[in-house]
Amino acid sequence: MNDSLRLLPERASNIATSYDTLFYSLTAMTAVLTIGIALTIVFFAVKYRRRRPEEFGKDTGSHVWLEITWTVIPLVICLGIFVWSAILYVGMSRAPDDAMTIQVVAKQWMWKVQHPNGRKEINELHVPLGRAVRLQMTSQDVIHSFYVPAFRIKQDVLPGRYSEEWFVPTKLGEYHLFCAEYCGTDHSRMGGRVVVMTPGDYQKWAENAALDERPEVAGARLFAEHGCVSCHGQTAPSLAGIYRHEQTLADGSRIIVDEDYLRESIIAPRAKIVAGYPPIMPSFEGQLSEEQIFQLIAYIKSLETPVGPPPAPLPLGPTQTPQPGASTP
Ligand code: CUA
Repeated sequence: MNDSLRLLPERASNIATSYDTLFYSLTAMTAVLTIGIALTIVFFAVKYRRRRPEEFGKDTGSHVWLEITWTVIPLVICLGIFVWSAILYVGMSRAPDDAMTIQVVAKQWMWKVQHPNGRKEINELHVPLGRAVRLQMTSQDVIHSFYVPAFRIKQDVLPGRYSEEWFVPTKLGEYHLFCAEYCGTDHSRMGGRVVVMTPGDYQKWAENAALDERPEVAGARLFAEHGCVSCHGQTAPSLAGIYRHEQTLADGSRIIVDEDYLRESIIAPRAKIVAGYPPIMPSFEGQLSEEQIFQLIAYIKSLETPVGPPPAPLPLGPTQTPQPGASTP
């Protein structure tokens, strides 16, 4: 579209065009209906106006097929819009498996970003052109919202849990980044820019991270410092290779290990105990920053071979009776 006529911000991501098509279609449909109804009202008001004081309208009775027609047509249109939007929404909410994960911690009033190779930045996000990027986000304090109009993405960032959004940048350049949730005094200044670079430039940029430790390296250090290594693999479940795999819990239910589960297990370890293990892990709530939790999770995700000695069979104490259904699927 001609730049001078542009109603919406420029389109710089994979979903921008389909998003705008939906938006323009809805706007056009609403405009046609609104104008059509308004003109009809005016036309009928003039045509059927009372011409003499003693003139009254006649009863016209009802018309079943007319009622059915004007009920069914709008219903079909509304369901069509629903299906169209739902398909778009589902596509926007699930990142492809090969997406590059970038961690984002929001706090009053800045965006702290860490790339997979460790490079950190604040209020800026550098991304490579044409690559699927998944933002894994959390907040250290209140609700924020990560909003990049040119990518047509906006996602609330909440304390105490992870939210994510993803995109494929399709155009080189710099784009505005905003916080779109009122979060206090400096909310309006909580913004920055997203820089889309060629993959080669991004590589060079990301490698220029002399002082930034890779998240999984920092996580391994935290894992040792906090003594996690003395239990996991022995009296606590081994963490090797568990990410994206199924675990059976003490109540017999099953879960797929994801970032949210790992985070919960660090903050509230007793919420979901793996079958066959005693609930002995202390909570690390308040002892780790959100960045450190991200680093620990990055470390756990990086583990593919068992850490520490092989797991020993666990003698259950008198207070830990095996739960029915815990050991069988
Ligand atoms: Cu953060 Cu508004």
